[in-house]
Amino acid sequence: MPGNRYDDGMSDSYQQLLDATIQHVEGLKARGVRHVSVAPETLRALAQPAPRIAAPPPEVRSRRREEAPAFQPPAATPPAQKISPSLLTSAATQISPPSAAAPLSSEAKIVAFAALRERALACVKCPNLAASRQNVVFGVGSIDAQLMFVGEAPGADEDEQGEPFVGKAGQLLTKIIQATGLSRADVYIANILKCRPDTPGQSAGNRKPTPEEMQTCIPYLHEQIDLIQPKVIVALGATAVEGLLGKTVGITKLRGHWQTYRGTPLMPTYHPAYLLRNQSLSEKRRVWEDMLAAMEKLGLPISEKQRNFFLKAS
Ligand code: URA
Repeated sequence: MPGNRYDDGMSDSYQQLLDATIQHVEGLKARGVRHVSVAPETLRALAQPAPRIAAPPPEVRSRRREEAPAFQPPAATPPAQKISPSLLTSAATQISPPSAAAPLSSEAKIVAFAALRERALACVKCPNLAASRQNVVFGVGSIDAQLMFVGEAPGADEDEQGEPFVGKAGQLLTKIIQATGLSRADVYIANILKCRPDTPGQSAGNRKPTPEEMQTCIPYLHEQIDLIQPKVIVALGATAVEGLLGKTVGITKLRGHWQTYRGTPLMPTYHPAYLLRNQSLSEKRRVWEDMLAAMEKLGLPISEKQRNFFLKAS
């Protein structure tokens, strides 16, 4: 499948089989089929140990770092699991997300995530955005991440590259992530809106996503969260907080205070673009305090030096 990020992460035959399965199921779905029957022997075969993965693909890779041993658990091979017909349907056609009570095997998770991504890449629910976009910006990072960042929507750079947070604000986010001892590959980064908000008649500039656009797109994010099951979500900026929590209290009041989103602790903080506009040490420190709180919640090691970042007297 051209452009599939999993190409180098699986054996060729498994990749071909996966591509063919997704293509077939998408075809069925396009023809209005909503359920597929699966023979018991197929289910038994699916419950067998997964094929060996030659090299971890970019979206699945979780770099383990010596300085953050508690963050990513060792890559123990999960026991093979039975995949119920409903989970198979979910993995293949993504009609419904898996529930937290039914954790997927790592292979089923890869398949489900790939199918979700394929579906999002083909989305035309907002015809104006589908017509104006260069790329659907699905998300990037480890699908086993314990820490997930959620922004509002792609900007011009993200639209061009098909990856969230790669522009100036994104580069600052990368630095913030690195300051925790992690890398972009250790976490998962996504937006509420997967397409860049269009600005008809304007050659440049951004606009805030509308509530309708966020409502239309957020089911993809829900499925991402349900599959990844992060331990902590960091919401970046007022629009992300509004889209996720429906709160219009104001980011200044909300930041630094734990919230809960779909059962997951969520820390609202300032958007990195705000920090680019306001370079004061005190605002940087506020974001850093929110990150320290997230690190504490995750059980990440915090050095004295990290604790004192952006404190004038240190
Ligand atoms: N701002 C966002 O909210 N998301 C991006 O991906 C880039 C900038």
